[in-house]
Amino acid sequence: MPLDFPLFPEAASTMAGQVDALYIFLVVLSAFMSLLIGGAVFYCAVRYRRRSEDEIGSNFHGSILLEIVWSAIPLAICLLLFFWGAKVFFAQSRPPADALEFTAIGKQWMWKFQHPDGQREINTLHVPIGQPIKITAISQDVIHSLYFPAFRVKKDVLPGRYTTVWFEATKTGSYHLFCAEFCGAEHSKMGGQVVVLEPEEYERWLAGGAAASQSPAEAGAALFEQLACVTCHLDGDGGRGPALRGIYGEDVTLNDGRTVVVNDEYLRESILTPAEKIVAGFQPLMPTYKGQISEENVFKLITYIKSLSGGRETPAGGAVDESNVPQDAATDAATEDTP
Ligand code: CUA
Repeated sequence: MPLDFPLFPEAASTMAGQVDALYIFLVVLSAFMSLLIGGAVFYCAVRYRRRSEDEIGSNFHGSILLEIVWSAIPLAICLLLFFWGAKVFFAQSRPPADALEFTAIGKQWMWKFQHPDGQREINTLHVPIGQPIKITAISQDVIHSLYFPAFRVKKDVLPGRYTTVWFEATKTGSYHLFCAEFCGAEHSKMGGQVVVLEPEEYERWLAGGAAASQSPAEAGAALFEQLACVTCHLDGDGGRGPALRGIYGEDVTLNDGRTVVVNDEYLRESILTPAEKIVAGFQPLMPTYKGQISEENVFKLITYIKSLSGGRETPAGGAVDESNVPQDAATDAATEDTP
């Protein structure tokens, strides 16, 4: 009988070996402990069974040495597992700084992906090999979970909050991607393929077919104008809202004295519920955009604001030249929500 029953999914990322090693160690350890304890129970049951009706068991008063040994060894094993697990967890939670930034939106029942330069895909994701890929994800409705078995990474995708998952593919090919959180009637269909390509192939793929008319930062710049954000967020001081150039990744002081770091999460909150965290020295004048702007468009605005701080999107370290943004950008941005 050919042994083609796969015990493990294919391992195709830098993370896979680390996760598998920890997993195999846990399985082997559990098997060893089960056999050890089960064997000891069985041996003692037979060896020390009652042999005659009036037999009386011997008295046993314990041993300090034994107590210490069987406390210390499990403690050492548990601590090893804790630190080993934490190491893998941190590796999974911290995308490298040079990662390509993708976005994903989960909705009943599909995955919508966007590439750093604007290409969009549904339920299929093309990525280059040997390059860290960071996916910032959010859900438009219920809780989903983005799962790449071959990369050994999985992250819940939540409504109202960004989560990120990252991987670096080590093998070209096509692998499954799944939703790993029961999310309704068609949960089982909410999946697809992740296709790992050689860098040149990926460039060719980007160039061909569904080329984006503009990058997410450019689309965000157009949206920034269309929503009239520019009237308050001027390019210098003196606006009714804080100037946005160079703020991404920096600390900002709020009017209640707290300090927050300007990241994706804070920008999203400030767009949707601006009154939550007002920057010191400003009034809570900004209207809420909750319910008026799609998650996709929030991503675009954030990417634009990031690009003002020298993000990867920015040509030559400056702002996106808004005069180059096509006029239909706003309409494009407004209509692309329907898949
Ligand atoms: Cu989405 Cu299950």
